[in-house]
Amino acid sequence: MSLQRILLLGSGGREHALAWKLSRSKRCGQLFIGPGNAGTSECGTNVPLNPLDFPSVADFVLKNQIDMVVVGPEEPLVRGIWDYFHERAELQHIPVIGPSKAGAVMEGSKAWSKQFMERHSIPTAAYREFSATEIEEGVKYLKQHSLPIVLKADGLAAGKGVIIAKSHKEAVREFREMLGGKFGESSSRVVVEQFLSGIEFSVFVLTDGKNYKILPEAKDYKRIGEKDKGPNTGGMGAVSPVPFVDQTMWEKVETRIIQPTVNGLRKEKIVYKGFIFFGLIEVNGEPFVIEYNCRMGDPETEVVMPRLKNDLVTLFEKCAKGSLGRVKINVDRKTAATVFLVSGGYPGDYEKGKVISGLDQVKGSVAFHAGTTINAKGEVVTNGGRVIALTSFGKDIPSAVRKSKRNAKAINYEGKYFRRDIGKDLMLDA
Ligand code: AMP
Ligand code: GLY
Repeated sequence: MSLQRILLLGSGGREHALAWKLSRSKRCGQLFIGPGNAGTSECGTNVPLNPLDFPSVADFVLKNQIDMVVVGPEEPLVRGIWDYFHERAELQHIPVIGPSKAGAVMEGSKAWSKQFMERHSIPTAAYREFSATEIEEGVKYLKQHSLPIVLKADGLAAGKGVIIAKSHKEAVREFREMLGGKFGESSSRVVVEQFLSGIEFSVFVLTDGKNYKILPEAKDYKRIGEKDKGPNTGGMGAVSPVPFVDQTMWEKVETRIIQPTVNGLRKEKIVYKGFIFFGLIEVNGEPFVIEYNCRMGDPETEVVMPRLKNDLVTLFEKCAKGSLGRVKINVDRKTAATVFLVSGGYPGDYEKGKVISGLDQVKGSVAFHAGTTINAKGEVVTNGGRVIALTSFGKDIPSAVRKSKRNAKAINYEGKYFRRDIGKDLMLDA
């Protein structure tokens, strides 16, 4: 049994959860995280790499005899890190877990993903796309569109590219601004979409391009305020499993969404060996795709990885080799919940560098770090908007959330804020 030398790229809570899971594998020899955060340094060795600087990543991989590269965030994938490794002879034998550039376009272009869903009859909201040469046609279309109207910048826009306009006036203004370059190249095309009203959940698969394995589903909480009020964030908490995703719903999701997606990619000869994240919405008992992502979710990974019982290194090896077919996924039946501690002012302006105390007081939860770093004095300090995700297990949602909230009170830094209502909307069992 050869031990693997693994490089994980990224620096968020998702990467700490992946690093934590990889480091628990008996197949993991040495784990490097580039660049990582204060938490990932407890699972392996942080290395000062920029995941978008492919030549430097490749250099590190060759010098350190890395056997496998795992890509956490979307941007290196959308920019083609898989292809970069594939095209260089000395790197070709090193598996990169994540799709090729042609696969990452599922997340990199909303217009592409809508066309893909149309080609493969995958249920999603009705839409039209417009480019800068079609502004007046688009405005006409918007004026007769039912409200609210969903406008999406085509490309990556750091989670800010979706606008739900409540009036025609707002829709037209946003539409003009987007096509006028509000998000640069990302909004050179805009998707106008029918608004779907329902409850969202996240489904994940790991695919080797032919076979796929379904991981535990999750629900994340995107808004800053309780009862889902206020602006969107990178995610304030998550729970897994999601009680309303029952057997009937799973069958619909698998046959109408997962299978046609994986088969569609294969038929279109798109190389995809990695995670697919399906952002779904249930509307009157029927699942629709809101979006695809080419990576795991954050904060969903912080509840999915703890529930996954399989050895993650083995799963990745099989993914790279195309032999996921015989794998059986084993999942802990307990409920996992995560509560995110964020910086005061987030998602608006906030300060960094606040000393974090009480991490050693955490009991019964795992503290996954996101925006943290170690300062010159060796102290763990805040380094981003979302700081620490506290994940706990419980027999149900209330008991898991209770543990995370108890530990949330034990950790302190100036400006700390967290939502106290994570999972509350799902507490059928409360
Ligand atoms: P996206 O970046 O596509 O995930 O969109 C961000 C968020 O906007 C989603 O998580 C939904 O909450 C919301 N959203 C996107 N598309 C729609 C839609 N067609 N109907 C209702 N809400 C939507
Ligand atoms: N939690 C949503 C995302 O990772 O995009």
